[in-house]
Amino acid sequence: MPEVKVAHLSKRFGDNAVLRDISFTIADGEFFTLLGPSGCGKSTTLACIAGLEQPTSGSIAVGAATFVDAGTFVPPEGRNLGMVFQSYALWPHMTVAQNLAMPLKIRKVDRREQDTLITEALGKVGLAELRDRYPHQLSGGQQQRVALARALVYSPGVLLLDEPLSNLDAKLRDQARAWLKRLQTELGITTVYVTHDQEEALALSDRIAVMSKGDMVQIGAPEEIYERPATAEVAAFVGRCNFLTGTATGPREVRLDCTGQAVAVPGTAVTAGTRVTVAIRPERLEILPPGRTAPADVNVLTAQVLTSSYVGARHEYDLRLGDHVSEAETSRPGLAGEVTLVAEPAAFLLYPTTDALPQDVEALITIAQ
Ligand SMILES: Nc1ncnc2c1ncn2[C@@H]1O[C@H](COP(=O)(O)OP(=O)(O)OP(=O)(O)O)[C@@H](O)[C@H]1O
Ligand SMILES: [Mg+2]
Repeated sequence: MPEVKVAHLSKRFGDNAVLRDISFTIADGEFFTLLGPSGCGKSTTLACIAGLEQPTSGSIAVGAATFVDAGTFVPPEGRNLGMVFQSYALWPHMTVAQNLAMPLKIRKVDRREQDTLITEALGKVGLAELRDRYPHQLSGGQQQRVALARALVYSPGVLLLDEPLSNLDAKLRDQARAWLKRLQTELGITTVYVTHDQEEALALSDRIAVMSKGDMVQIGAPEEIYERPATAEVAAFVGRCNFLTGTATGPREVRLDCTGQAVAVPGTAVTAGTRVTVAIRPERLEILPPGRTAPADVNVLTAQVLTSSYVGARHEYDLRLGDHVSEAETSRPGLAGEVTLVAEPAAFLLYPTTDALPQDVEALITIAQ
């Protein structure tokens, strides 16, 4: 299977710059995901690779074949790529087998060979016995598998999937996700996957490219994206995150606005006096059991529990940070909700303070354990 190389890809629709100088290389057999909020340019990137959109500038190559370059544009039918859209786009008046035969007819594959390839492709997606059904006689999950079989039937060089699971309900989507991952690994087919679902991206991908407003903000393995988000925006988009503002008081210390308290943070090049945003994942803050003393090298924060929710595998707590509770308040009943939180300095992520994130007003945070 070939690698996919996209370099300096830009796309404008009139005055609207939808993709700005995007570059990435996908390795042979890799599961590569484009992740980002609605409108960030994921589908447009995929459509440029497929040949359904013509880039304004940049180049696209798959293996030894250049599809797009200055003066070169290979049309979609010349690219041999398999594509599945969110809507499946099965032909309703054709049976499953006839749907799969279409791309083979276009490629002038002879009848007997067609039959073998269709049987093989339906076998791969586990639907061999449904070949004579019409799309309306299939469940959503089955239709989605047929769409995938139709993209696989002519052995494409690369598989392009645009939100192929988003029409399925949550339970079915989980099953389809596991199944898709197994199939992709078995086939070893280079796959470009588009989703705005961060959990899906983390679960499926070898690498994820996070996009924002036409830019590629970060490319990395799922662990890297989740644990070391390049920007506060990535931290906020991939998984849940608490954000607190503060001022650096040294290279490894930040005074939080909400509590006035200094917390130790990982060593950075931040100079004292710089305004920063401190980010921390809910599961990296722990409630210290009553009566236990905190280890010496961790940050200790006091917080008030506002709500606690049992969500099956864990508890989630909404808290207000700070021990600024007046005498009058502490004497009131019901303030047993005061807890001590501990977190390792390494759990804190530091970003320049940006306007893009909600400002820390009440020091409300969420923790999960
Ligand atoms: N044919 C077009 N003409 C003009 N603008 C377009 C066209 N296609 C897409 N756009 C714009 O380009 C931007 C990116 O669209 P794109 O479909 O790539 O987003 P996306 O990341 O796939 O979003 P979603 O998650 O909603 O599918 C959007 O602002 C969209 O309105
Ligand atoms: Mg899209």
